Amino acid sequence: MDIHALQQIVHQTRDARRKQTLPKFSPADRDQLIHKYHPDFRERAYRPIRFGPNDGDKTVLELATLLEGDSPIADGFDLTADHTTDVLVVGGGGAGCAAALHAHAAGAKVILATKLRLGDSNSVMAQGGMQISVAPEDSPVTHFVDTLKGGHMQNDHQLLKVMVEEGPSIAKWLLSLGVLFDRDADGNLHVKKGGGSSKPRLLTCSDYTGLEIMRVLKDEVLNQNIQLLEFCAAVELTSDEKGNCTGAIFKDLDNHRHVVVAAKSVILATGGIGRLHIQGFPTSNHYGATGDGLCLAYRMGAKLMHIDTFQYHPSGAVYPEQLIGALVTEGIRSEGGHLVNAKGERFVNELDTRDVVSSSIIRECEEGRGIRTMSGRIGVWLDTPLLDAEHGPGTVEKHFPAMMLQFERFGIDISKDPVLIYPTLHYQNGGVKIDTNSETNVKHLFVAGEASGGLHGRNRLMGNSLLDLMVFGRRSGLTAAARAATMPQGKLTVGHLKGFRAEAKKHGSAGGVVSPMILPPYTRKEPERMANS
Ligand code: FUM
Repeated sequence: MDIHALQQIVHQTRDARRKQTLPKFSPADRDQLIHKYHPDFRERAYRPIRFGPNDGDKTVLELATLLEGDSPIADGFDLTADHTTDVLVVGGGGAGCAAALHAHAAGAKVILATKLRLGDSNSVMAQGGMQISVAPEDSPVTHFVDTLKGGHMQNDHQLLKVMVEEGPSIAKWLLSLGVLFDRDADGNLHVKKGGGSSKPRLLTCSDYTGLEIMRVLKDEVLNQNIQLLEFCAAVELTSDEKGNCTGAIFKDLDNHRHVVVAAKSVILATGGIGRLHIQGFPTSNHYGATGDGLCLAYRMGAKLMHIDTFQYHPSGAVYPEQLIGALVTEGIRSEGGHLVNAKGERFVNELDTRDVVSSSIIRECEEGRGIRTMSGRIGVWLDTPLLDAEHGPGTVEKHFPAMMLQFERFGIDISKDPVLIYPTLHYQNGGVKIDTNSETNVKHLFVAGEASGGLHGRNRLMGNSLLDLMVFGRRSGLTAAARAATMPQGKLTVGHLKGFRAEAKKHGSAGGVVSPMILPPYTRKEPERMANS
């Protein structure tokens, strides 16, 4: 059947569904559902890591292989520094820009290196908003409790306390830089409710919140004349004789040569992992989300945590084919959009936590209540026209202009027709273990944003990522800058690779895999113009 014929059930059942009471899940039901259907619980997708700081811990096959991968840097590599700086930030998304700006403001010399262009990141693609307790009926304590519940009580309490408490000051900072958050008719900041949250707490800029924040942060990085190295992919870190971090080695993707940067501190803000397409899932992530920071930190001896849990966002596009995996913001469900199966029924509270909602969608599809496209893909409906029916004509267009445009390009008007969705790989819940200043167990090596772990426990709440980036970007930048003022530059070696390679050999693990991945394997290959140094 063609997609328009399949959609009719959504239109036909809309009025009845508006009166339907939803099934209530007890905590035990929720646990059972997640264990049965969530991709995190598919045993065959996992294996133990064979050596290194997380020896014996389980993670997905795709990540285990890269963590055990060899460095592209050979023994005897020329480590003469091309650049020297106080603070080296690796990554040009939200956490990287925040770290660079705060370190620069604190008086440090800063270099920001990014493997694509400044801003190319998941941050710029963030749609639904940023959780900050600014409403009078809300508080950091409530934010703390909501996040802890969403994360299955596995969140690092200290990191979480810092994040929720510093939220309001981040809102102030972003407003002072010129971010145009949505406001109500009285001019007060407008807040929306996200899944798993007990209070409206999302600051939004329509459905392009990340784009608006990054517009301002990118401008600020350029205005401050922070030195940029674009199209420079980090391929290895450097260490001194004590194993402390002292800089990084990059591959210049334009000129196909290596660039060595000596730094008193390195802040990895390399983002997520979606482009590993774990378990074959499509992804909402940007092209460079290949988990590079995890591999670099791991080889240096940094401990990872919660690397067995990933977020499959409930609503990734299934149709048209050109948009497969692209995010359809949770904001639509926040404003009342129903999830609807092939029988025209709702089957879950759309604002439950993402792991519960995704598991329910997978259950509907596995039990024969999914909708199959002509190309064989499967999903359930998100009733977007319901928003206009519920809140008045023009609501979808006014509140979700980016989403309208995304589908309009393919002749689809989401204010009139529902959208077919299925979970898409969206976020790594875990990452490199950090302290409250974003430092790892490797001295002078900081990790900020999605590449770090602990804050979100085993399931991140909507909108907590943008706040994470700003809070821990700032903390890492300030701590690294303060330290730079009191220490000399350490020696540049790749001594840490010796032990790592010996372990790899012992476990027969090298297997020809070199990491980090840098770009997904389906990237168009360009001829190399210059030999590697
Ligand atoms: O659905 C969304 O707009 C995603 C937001 C988030 O992951 O924080």
